[in-house]
Amino acid sequence: MAANEQKKRILTGIRPTGALHLGHYVGALHNWVDLQNQYECYFLIADYQALGDHFHDIDLIRDSVLQVTLDWLAVGLDPENSSFVVQSYVPEFAELTMLLSFITPLGMLERNPTLKGELDALEVERRTVGFFNYPMSQVADILIPRAHLVPVGDDQSPHVEMTREVARKFNRMFGEVFPEAETLIGKVPRLSGTDGQGKMSKSKGNVIMLGDDEQTVTKKVRGMFTDPNRIRADIPGKVEGNPLFQYHDAFNPDTAQVEDFKTRYREGNIGDVEVKMALAEAINNFLDPIREKRHYYEENMNLVEDALMAGVARTRVIAAETMKMVRDAMRISSYTKNWK
Ligand code: TRP
Repeated sequence: MAANEQKKRILTGIRPTGALHLGHYVGALHNWVDLQNQYECYFLIADYQALGDHFHDIDLIRDSVLQVTLDWLAVGLDPENSSFVVQSYVPEFAELTMLLSFITPLGMLERNPTLKGELDALEVERRTVGFFNYPMSQVADILIPRAHLVPVGDDQSPHVEMTREVARKFNRMFGEVFPEAETLIGKVPRLSGTDGQGKMSKSKGNVIMLGDDEQTVTKKVRGMFTDPNRIRADIPGKVEGNPLFQYHDAFNPDTAQVEDFKTRYREGNIGDVEVKMALAEAINNFLDPIREKRHYYEENMNLVEDALMAGVARTRVIAAETMKMVRDAMRISSYTKNWK
């Protein structure tokens, strides 16, 4: 990139509904750590969006804002280089959500497959206007910093698609303000829960947290789901789709050992215990520096606060700029100027 060329901007985010786990690392954080060197990054802690299904548990959201920030710092997101943003600290996110909702047809939300699936899974009394509208607020999240790229998983691409449609409509109606954001889907290895289920969640107890201590990790790995047909070590086992090997592939840097394990597993020449002990060691080695950093920040909470405040301050600047462009383009909030 030429020195005078502006870095492209990235916005991505997470809902603060718990501390983060290995699935978050493999699926997102690992990629974000790389991206922060090439792009101007905004990492959003979407606490408004978390209200969508956790309005009954604000304590959890409060605690999770802190936990998520600690996890981000621990894995090496750099708050000086990138902006960590708490959504509710930048009121422009809410303002833009509201304004854009007037040019967004209901059908865009009704047709959104991710939203549809989530609403269907929600008890009727939890289906609120706010929840229904969360993709709209995600559109505003992306448009406030006028982001070019949005690194997210597949399930989020309908929201990015909607962002493009809304941006296009706004630009057409009022003049060019927003770039059309693209989804940036990284190559991420598939990681299932420790119980072999696709969906990972803390409440299911099938995840290894980034903050888990060594004993906890070893215990969780020992209890991991493997090939259920393999009741003895001399029965040939299945490697494909076996979470033990997914995790080895993701966290064991000793690829020769992993290949040897796979061969012997297929032949029925190795016990699950040996594979599991090596995996626990690999994950613990991987987590050691992360735990150490997490601990350091837990002891220095002022640095955690500084990280958030610096990101919020930078985002407020660009948010104010964007909203001025939006109000000027829409010709609102300036009525008295020509009254004279
Ligand atoms: N919906 C995202 C999730 O649940 C979190 C999120 C909120 C987000 N705002 C965003 C992701 C903006 C990308 C861009 O993971």
